[in-house]
Amino acid sequence: MIRIMKKRQKKLYRRFRMKDERAFRKELEETLQLNNNTETEPFRQQFHLTPPKGLLNDPNGLIQWRGIYHVFFQWMPFKTGHGSKWWGHATTKDWVNWELLPPALAPVQDFEKNGCYSGSAVVRDGLLQLFYTGNVKDEYGNRSSYQCLAVSEDGVHFEKLGPVISQPERYTAHFRDPKVWYEAGSWWLVIGAQRDDKEGHVLIYRSRDLRKWEFLGPLAGKGVTLSESFGFMWECPDFFELDGMRVLLVSPQGLEKESYQYQNQYQTGVFTGSFDSENATFSHGSFQEMDKGFEFYAPQTFEDEHGRRLLLGWMGVPDQQEDMHPTIKDGWVHCLTMPRELLHLQNGKIAQQPLKEWKQLRGAQQSKDIHVTAETVEWTEWKAIVAEINIEVEEGKSWTISWRDYLTMSFDAEYGVFTLERPDLISGEPAFRTSRIEEIHSLRCYFDRSSAEIFINDGEHVATSRLFPRKQEAKLRCKTHESIMFQVDAWELHSFQWSG
Ligand code: FRU
Repeated sequence: MIRIMKKRQKKLYRRFRMKDERAFRKELEETLQLNNNTETEPFRQQFHLTPPKGLLNDPNGLIQWRGIYHVFFQWMPFKTGHGSKWWGHATTKDWVNWELLPPALAPVQDFEKNGCYSGSAVVRDGLLQLFYTGNVKDEYGNRSSYQCLAVSEDGVHFEKLGPVISQPERYTAHFRDPKVWYEAGSWWLVIGAQRDDKEGHVLIYRSRDLRKWEFLGPLAGKGVTLSESFGFMWECPDFFELDGMRVLLVSPQGLEKESYQYQNQYQTGVFTGSFDSENATFSHGSFQEMDKGFEFYAPQTFEDEHGRRLLLGWMGVPDQQEDMHPTIKDGWVHCLTMPRELLHLQNGKIAQQPLKEWKQLRGAQQSKDIHVTAETVEWTEWKAIVAEINIEVEEGKSWTISWRDYLTMSFDAEYGVFTLERPDLISGEPAFRTSRIEEIHSLRCYFDRSSAEIFINDGEHVATSRLFPRKQEAKLRCKTHESIMFQVDAWELHSFQWSG
């Protein structure tokens, strides 16, 4: 199989050089058919978007158009490392039945030759319009970035119209990830940038026609809305209304690790405040990190046709033990998160909930009251590893809950500290993510074959992590030093159905 892959990749690269995009795509589809084997792969996800082969990172171009949800994603089809990214493309009407479409964008033009990097989608004049960053490196590794446009009439085939925005003065070539929206009679665009003094910023642009863009200046960052340095680069900005407030969602790089926050290699979080569209200025409060787990980065949101603000993220973090994921031996790495609905703001924090559509995946159910008195109790009757497990816990008590002898969640009621523990992917020694949560009353856990997404207190906090247990056993264990009742409701979850 590997030999066939190698031969095919060579052929693909030849086509790539010849810029024969159509033939290239056809070859790729055939390659995917060959390698779509889920049965022998213990960590292949069942209800998360994973790449058939290669590496997936950020969600891109999220949109619902003519009733269909389009999920594009950063994709390196040829290897399990980063490189010249494509835009992979999957669609769904109901979040259960999915179609894998031909990749929407391949890096075949000069202005994108080292990758069609992240971006977003809008609809205008009956066309689906994709904004993305063309990443280019010269022979010495020097980078340049172009903000490009591609349009489609059918949502499947895209015509590239080339760059529409070039790099502004005083900013480096770390200039990427355009997010476009319509508001107050204009089109707007925010983009991640690095000022020439190595400060992360978000820049804002305005346009009448999506083709000609006016640079309005920096929207946030040091010297604009912050007095202190806040990372050397801000990736994947998004800027939207929620609950009457303005939210800047962004992934800053270069924050120092602290006892209860910023424990991953790079962070993701929100600034909330208000936007003055007349003057294109934003005033905001402090940064709130968005996730309490090991893997969550570069999320993007969109408003769907029901008026819901939905979010998907990458369940990975750049440069964080990426080459240690055990799926690499099966030829793929990383996945997207479940889509979440953003609900409201609580003290500057956004509550996230799984989509109600996820109930369609529910299969057999069991409930149990687990009474623990200063010991460990295992729920031996529960057998499904792909599951939704809702746990109500008594407030004011400390406890530990472990899943598959691999992932441990614990709450210290005295200090108000939540800890997620799993083995370090390199050393195998326990690794921790600790955060402050005053009180916990419920945990809604979605376990796929190699991930956990835990919605704490109805989504007030979320912890997202990959997990790679050796054994295929669904072991749920509860432990405390006092007498405590866990009320558990659990469902087996079915898989996505794929066609295409
Ligand atoms: C975030 C990111 C983006 C970039 C893309 C490249 O993970 O680094 O800034 O556009 O990934 O794949």
